[in-house]
Amino acid sequence: MSKAQLDWANLGFAFHRTDYNIRYTWRDGAWDEGVLTSDDIIPLPMAATCLHYGQECFEGLKAFETKSGDVVVFRVEENARRMIHTCERIMMETVPEEMFVDAVLRVVDANRRFVPPYGTGAALYIRPLLLGTTAAVALQPAIDYLFLVFTTPVGPYFKAGFKPVHLIVEDTADRAAPKGVGNIKVGGNYAAGMRASMNAKKLGFADVLYLDPREKRYVDEAGPANFFGITRDGQYVTPDSESILPSITNKSLITLAEGMELRPERRLIEIEEVFDFAEAGCCGTAAVITPIGSITYRNRKMVYCAEDEPGRICTELYEALTAIQIGDAPDPFGWVRVVPELQEATRRSP
Ligand code: PLP
Ligand code: COI
Repeated sequence: MSKAQLDWANLGFAFHRTDYNIRYTWRDGAWDEGVLTSDDIIPLPMAATCLHYGQECFEGLKAFETKSGDVVVFRVEENARRMIHTCERIMMETVPEEMFVDAVLRVVDANRRFVPPYGTGAALYIRPLLLGTTAAVALQPAIDYLFLVFTTPVGPYFKAGFKPVHLIVEDTADRAAPKGVGNIKVGGNYAAGMRASMNAKKLGFADVLYLDPREKRYVDEAGPANFFGITRDGQYVTPDSESILPSITNKSLITLAEGMELRPERRLIEIEEVFDFAEAGCCGTAAVITPIGSITYRNRKMVYCAEDEPGRICTELYEALTAIQIGDAPDPFGWVRVVPELQEATRRSP
């Protein structure tokens, strides 16, 4: 299958149509077998619970091409488990782990020609999406669901790629409540953050850094990614908070940081502490590791590095993570999974 003709090096984080998405329906108490389709429109009752009452959640993960030409996905089981956790919190039907993984493998295989070539730095972004589809006006969970997975080739989330970004602390609005839904992946969290994010962009920042919603005293996370700091004595620290998304990238970096003797620790991080860090970064599937060039908090600005000089530890973590993702380094933790090539005939089944 020949590769799609795209400008792989300059994709940005934009939506490009690929050949297939895969859809599973929950009806009468069971999931169906799932079907690959090229239709990118979904039929929905106008009274569907996902539209009015926010019964919607999603995931994000990536597939990569390795040097040997395999296509691999990164930690797909973790995304499956996180979606189950999300579903339980907002009373949605759960997608079993095995079905989630199977859906991802099938849809990536079907869109193989859109997996950016090895060495381009780009990836195939995979977006699993779950919607409550029952038409209802009473406030209650749906009894019908649509689970779909679509893909799109992407470049870096922040325009500059592995270049420092500038953040501004948002202390006038929250994206999540203390015991709310900030720790699960529901669309409403992102809508709640859009105004702050757009205001930050108007001021020339890449995005915002949120504080904890209870006291506005501790660092929470950036709009689309977790936060970490490197202390002056070389320790990897990342916020312990009930209102941030448990990032799979961050979890991976914590594991890598252990091996790199960075003594990783999840703990409360006072906002004042960011003025003392040697380096700081954002991490996430889309953001990968994005070094933070500066943080502006009220009328103070902490500068971590020059525009073209991400810090040493951020760079080492980035290299260690991406080498595993693209198969350039051994995978001692079993994080990558090869996408099997299915026969053309079985691919479209049932
Ligand atoms: N925080 C938020 C709000 C996110 O949207 C994401 C992206 O998924 C992350 C953190 C990073 O999570 P992960 O590394 O699992 O992609
Ligand atoms: C991801 O990193 O996968 C996300 O879902 C964040 C999103 C804002 C692109």
